[in-house]
Amino acid sequence: MDKLLIEGGARLSGEVAISGAKNAALPILCAALLTAEPVTFTNVPQLKDIGTLLALLGQMGVKVERAGDTVTLDASGLNNPVAPYEMVKTMRASILVLGPLVARCGEARVSLPGGCAIGARPVDQHIKGLQAMGAEVRVEHGYVHATVPRLKGARLFTDMVTVTGTENLMMAAALADGETVIENAAREPEVVDLANCLVAMGAQISGAGSDVIRIRGVERLHGATHRIMPDRIETGTYLCAAAVTGGSVRLTGTSSCYLDAVIDKLMDAGCEVVSERDAISLSAPARLNAVSLRTAPYPAFPTDMQAQFMAINCVANGVAMIRETIFENRFMHAVELQRLGADIRIDGNTAVVQGVARLEGATVMATDLRASASLVVAGLVAEGETTIERIYHLDRGYERLEDKLAALGAKVRRLT
Ligand code: EPZ
Repeated sequence: MDKLLIEGGARLSGEVAISGAKNAALPILCAALLTAEPVTFTNVPQLKDIGTLLALLGQMGVKVERAGDTVTLDASGLNNPVAPYEMVKTMRASILVLGPLVARCGEARVSLPGGCAIGARPVDQHIKGLQAMGAEVRVEHGYVHATVPRLKGARLFTDMVTVTGTENLMMAAALADGETVIENAAREPEVVDLANCLVAMGAQISGAGSDVIRIRGVERLHGATHRIMPDRIETGTYLCAAAVTGGSVRLTGTSSCYLDAVIDKLMDAGCEVVSERDAISLSAPARLNAVSLRTAPYPAFPTDMQAQFMAINCVANGVAMIRETIFENRFMHAVELQRLGADIRIDGNTAVVQGVARLEGATVMATDLRASASLVVAGLVAEGETTIERIYHLDRGYERLEDKLAALGAKVRRLT
């Protein structure tokens, strides 16, 4: 398995381009299932998870063409509305094919994603919504079986804010008979990007970005071209990497408008942030102030940035309280950070981080995507060499991470 070797201490400086958003591309590629016409996507990040999804769509009969960051999908030959366990177990976001398959084919057999390192990750809200729209849904032998002649518009209310739940139900409603209203909808920018793509394909959607989304179903959708929005979590991750090293960087092909909560915290930590139309610059002091945070659905502080902020708090001045309110087990990076000398105490869903003068390089193990990112951030500032094992987690969500970090002056290399 690949490892990442980082020699800590380099101040990051320079410019790097941010890729398209993984968590926008995943639902948006699934939207191609909703039409028999080809759909072209640009700024698609070249990530393991994207490759997994394209393979999943290919085995359903979707024609996949890929050239660099452009992907064209043609689902006219869709003949196998099945997502098998062997593929779904490697990427739980595969559940996003459920809504489109039921809407387009009237049936779907999708393996339950199962849990992952950060939590149980149930999909009960996805199922509840489809049932409310008239689908007959059975869960047996680890698969969700859904059938319906045609979905009917309905008023849906999700028990908690769920990003992929909102996305699945919005895609299903696009072809339903009548109007669907999703209340308590997720407001994440990736939900808005998906809605914009669906509207370009002929869907009638209003309210995306608010907690009430209205979808008026249509008979069919048509082809379109859509550019994937920038990855705000990749952006935030590089901002943290620059901040913790006292660096000064400019990130292009991205925007600060989806990161207000994160940028506020970086400024509280003592950083200067300058926003341009499609770039963000950050310069950091030699030592950051500790910043407390509480994760919550957008527009509040994103759970996907919690691990990275725990890392920068490890060497900040003061004590930080970090509360994780979205997932039940998203502090696994803490024990790995402690191996680097961090002073962290976990009490339920709260972590208390006492900043220390320095971290010392060691061998650590990645456990999930964002936990791995926090170990990279810590390794950049730890004294000596840090070896991060199991970095396949990183490859799922960060395109060419070591190349981009090296371009900013980090001493990092991959050991295959
Ligand atoms: C999306 O996951 C993201 N993934 C996650 O990013 C992100 O952390 C998460 O939203 C929260 O922002 C993608 O978009 C592909 P949820 P999702 O449904 O949709 C519970 C990353 O690192 N819940 O919003 O799976 C659930 O257990 C990944 O890029 C139910 O109980 O998250 C969780 O506690 C990690 N029943 C909470 O709701 C359901 O039916 C929020 O989950 C659905 C969710």
